[in-house]
Amino acid sequence: MNSPVMQGLTLNTPSYVKHARLIAWVADMAALCKPARIVWCDGSDEEYDRLCQQLVDAGTLKRLNPELRPNSYLAWSDPSDVARVEDRTFICSQRQEDAGPTNNWKDPAEMRATLQPLFDGCMRGRTMYVVPFSMGPLGSPIAHIGIELSDSAYVAVNMKLMTRMGKGVFDVLGADGDFVPCVHTVGAPLAEGEGDQTAWPCNPETKYIVHYPETREIWSYGSGYGGNALLGKKCFALRIASTMGRQQGWLAEHMLILGVTSPEGKKYHVAAAFPSACGKTNFAMLIPPKGFEGWKVTTIGDDIAWIKPQANGRLHAINPEAGYFGVAPGTNTLTNPNCMASLDRDVIFTNVALTDNGDVWWEGMGDAPAHAIDWQGKDWTPQIAKETGAKAAHPNARFTVAATNNPALDSAWDDPAGVPIDAFIFGGRRSTTVPLVTEARDWTEGVYMAATMGSETTAAAFGAQGVVRRDPFAMLPFAGYNMSDYFQHWLNLGAQLKAKGAQLPAIFCVNWFRKDEAGKFVWPGFGENMRVLKWMIDRLEGRGQGVEHAFGISPTYQDIHWDGLNFSAEQYQTVTHIDKAAWAQELALHGELFQQLKHHLPRELEETKARIEQRLAA
Ligand code: OXD
Ligand code: MN
Repeated sequence: MNSPVMQGLTLNTPSYVKHARLIAWVADMAALCKPARIVWCDGSDEEYDRLCQQLVDAGTLKRLNPELRPNSYLAWSDPSDVARVEDRTFICSQRQEDAGPTNNWKDPAEMRATLQPLFDGCMRGRTMYVVPFSMGPLGSPIAHIGIELSDSAYVAVNMKLMTRMGKGVFDVLGADGDFVPCVHTVGAPLAEGEGDQTAWPCNPETKYIVHYPETREIWSYGSGYGGNALLGKKCFALRIASTMGRQQGWLAEHMLILGVTSPEGKKYHVAAAFPSACGKTNFAMLIPPKGFEGWKVTTIGDDIAWIKPQANGRLHAINPEAGYFGVAPGTNTLTNPNCMASLDRDVIFTNVALTDNGDVWWEGMGDAPAHAIDWQGKDWTPQIAKETGAKAAHPNARFTVAATNNPALDSAWDDPAGVPIDAFIFGGRRSTTVPLVTEARDWTEGVYMAATMGSETTAAAFGAQGVVRRDPFAMLPFAGYNMSDYFQHWLNLGAQLKAKGAQLPAIFCVNWFRKDEAGKFVWPGFGENMRVLKWMIDRLEGRGQGVEHAFGISPTYQDIHWDGLNFSAEQYQTVTHIDKAAWAQELALHGELFQQLKHHLPRELEETKARIEQRLAA
């Protein structure tokens, strides 16, 4: 169809798009946003190359040295546009209580009235890309579809790496399939005859990341960066999908998914939730250490899991994404060799430094170059860094790469049926109090652990350092509805599956970040987390021993497999002991959280807290 939307603007709908409602929506949005032209993305490699070349010509991307980093690019964003903007993120449900106390809420009618004039003409002079994407394997019963309209070619090429993007989505949608409409603009319309004055158009003053859960819409204004702009990720796969999951009886979680296979060939799948900056990607790509010959860990996902119960009550998970949008600083061949290998080629880097030989560098990657251009386009040397503290890469600099680049990719990562989940893991960054690993005695205790988890903030992420920020289920910025209702949904689902006679996944709480009195991390981390995984598997197989304490069940020194690591019983004690005074304080903080979330807070969680208090006092 090539009907005119407005004078001089045609819809250009490809003949393979048969979905009248979708076409009408694109026409309406084009009439509102008034782009200069409309391009429907087909997801082909030719299209990717063409758009990347266009971005190179516009100065948004730099092509990296093809000998050192084949088929790879570097983007530098505007300094005002470097991260998700949580304070500009809104859940606009009809009732404020449905967004809950942890979300920014605005009345939907009021928000629509605010956004209408902003979106009117917001794409003037630009191209509107129609980006069809499937979150999850095309046609999978666990997957869902979105269409993003964006005036950013950078978004279109990132969506190609991060999702199953392109033509095939329309086959799944057919004439009237469901999709989540997502509208994104950088919020920088161009005046007649004017080109971009900047390589990273955005709106430095005005940003809105808006979700309407009842009508399942996403509207994003003013940012071109990451989760603000790649709307399949946090906006759809977590905020909107969590509300869909609540209504439809499934879970959309901020979790990595990994497969772990024993030397005997037995395979388990675990899904693990950690807040940002807790080494999620490292855990998802773990290489078993010395002493674990014959064990294999494989990645299904590194950030998000969609989990649906099967007819037999088993929970099956997919990674709705098809790529990784990971934090570059701190990533190196020691902490994450699989990740570094994934980045050998076909990558879009954002806000890392450019070296003189046309490659990239970031803090924590390895030896610093003698000279580089930093993420703001300025000269950078180790001497300048020493004198001024200037960072070569922004602390939230990212890589975007397709999952298929990961040498540890699980063979079932694209299986439409998903993988059966045997265990959930919840963890935060805590220098004290929370032991290395604890198993919940039952589902409710596990939900309690997840609901009360907290993480010490890093300066890069939240300004102050070392303050414990409660981050229930690592979903604080991502739950699309009232957090207490979300806890209730987890409890209800567990009860329903149990009533069906299903084996529920075990639930564990971990903390890799305990420090000694000198302030040094004690647990060697990285690959050694395999030892904790093995204990969990022992427990799943009914062989693992442990001791019960107030909070749950933890392994003793003897219960962990130590081959290949010199780690003393004293060191183990430092990462695992339960300090009663610290736990009394901790429970008081849980009480404060529960006070904040008291509206609809499940009674079972208060009862669990009371039980832990009694055990602690005993
Ligand atoms: C992410 C995050 O980018 O959690 O994945 O912040
Ligand atoms: Mn994340």
